[in-house]
Amino acid sequence: MSHPTAAPPVIRLEGVRKSFRLPNGDAFEAVRRTTLEVHGGDVFGLVGQSGAGKSTLLRLVNLLERPDAGRVFVAGRELTALPRHELRAARQQIGMIFQQFNLVQNATVFDNVAFPLRIHGRHTRAEIGARVRECLALVGLSEKSDSHPAQLSGGQKQRVAIARALAPRPQVLLCDEPTSALDSETTRALLQQLREINRQIGVTIVIVTHELPVVQALCRNVAILEKGQVVEQFAVDGPVAERKTVLGQEIDALVRQRTRDAHERQPQQAAAPVQLRGVAHA
Ligand SMILES: Nc1ncnc2c1ncn2[C@@H]1O[C@H](COP(=O)(O)OP(=O)(O)OP(=O)(O)O)[C@@H](O)[C@H]1O
Ligand SMILES: [Mg+2]
Repeated sequence: MSHPTAAPPVIRLEGVRKSFRLPNGDAFEAVRRTTLEVHGGDVFGLVGQSGAGKSTLLRLVNLLERPDAGRVFVAGRELTALPRHELRAARQQIGMIFQQFNLVQNATVFDNVAFPLRIHGRHTRAEIGARVRECLALVGLSEKSDSHPAQLSGGQKQRVAIARALAPRPQVLLCDEPTSALDSETTRALLQQLREINRQIGVTIVIVTHELPVVQALCRNVAILEKGQVVEQFAVDGPVAERKTVLGQEIDALVRQRTRDAHERQPQQAAAPVQLRGVAHA
C-alpha cells in the first residue's frame, strides 16, 4: 500500500531510548536511540529474538514505558509533552492487546468491552450498549455478550480483547504477541480477523511477534530489532500465502542468520535476564 508522502505518520518515535535498572544497580539499555515511523492504515511488524526490545519499543508508543530520552507522537500529538490528564485522553487513540488477553475474569464479555468506555464517563448507557454490540459483532462474538471469560476459548478471549481495544475507536492498535498462546488453527483465524479489521475500519496495527508466519500473513511493513535497535526495515510485498513466500524465507534466513551471528559473537549470553549484564554497551 502506498502512502501519500505529504501525510504525516500516525506514529512517530523520535530518538527514543529506554533503560532498566538491574538488581546490581547497572542500567540495561532495552531500547537504544531509535527513530521509527508508522503510517496510517499500515500493519507494521516488530520482529526479533527474545530480549531484543520488541515489547519495550511497543510500550513506548502508548507510554506504558516512558522513554528516558526522545519524543513520541501519536495521531498528531506529542504524548511525551502531555500532562497526565491529557495523556489519559490521548491514549483513547491507542488500543492494546496482549499475549495473555488480560480480561477481567469476574466481568461479562459485555462489561469487559464496555470498560474503556465507562472509565471516561463521557458516554450514555445507550451509547455504550450500542458501541459494545457493534464491536462484538465486528469480532463475531455477538452471542457471547453475557458469557464470562472462563467460558470462552483462547481465540474467543483474544477477540473480546480486540473488541475492548477497539471500543474507544482508536487510530492505533498495538498487539504484543497476540497469538502466542493460541494453537496454529486459531492463530490463522485470529490473524485473518485482524487483517479484516484493518481493511474494514482502517485502524493502524503494530504487532510484535517472533513468529514469521504472523509477519507473512498480516504485515505490510516490518522492522527487525536486535539488541534494542532497528537493524532492518522493509515492506512485505506479494500475495499472502499459507506456504512461505520467497520473502518469508528471506526474513526467516535473516533472523536465523542474525541469531547465529549474535550467538557466535557472544556465546555466553543467552536470553536469561541474569546473563544480560554486559550486553547493553557491547
Ligand atoms: N521492567 C524491566 N526491568 C528490567 N529489565 C527489563 C524490564 N523490561 C524489559 N527488560 C529487559 O529489557 C530487554 C528487552 O525486553 P523486552 O521485553 O522488550 O524484549 P522482547 O523483545 O519483547 O522479548 P520477548 O520476545 O522475550 O518478549 C530484556 O533483556 C529484558 O530483560
Ligand atoms: Mg516481548
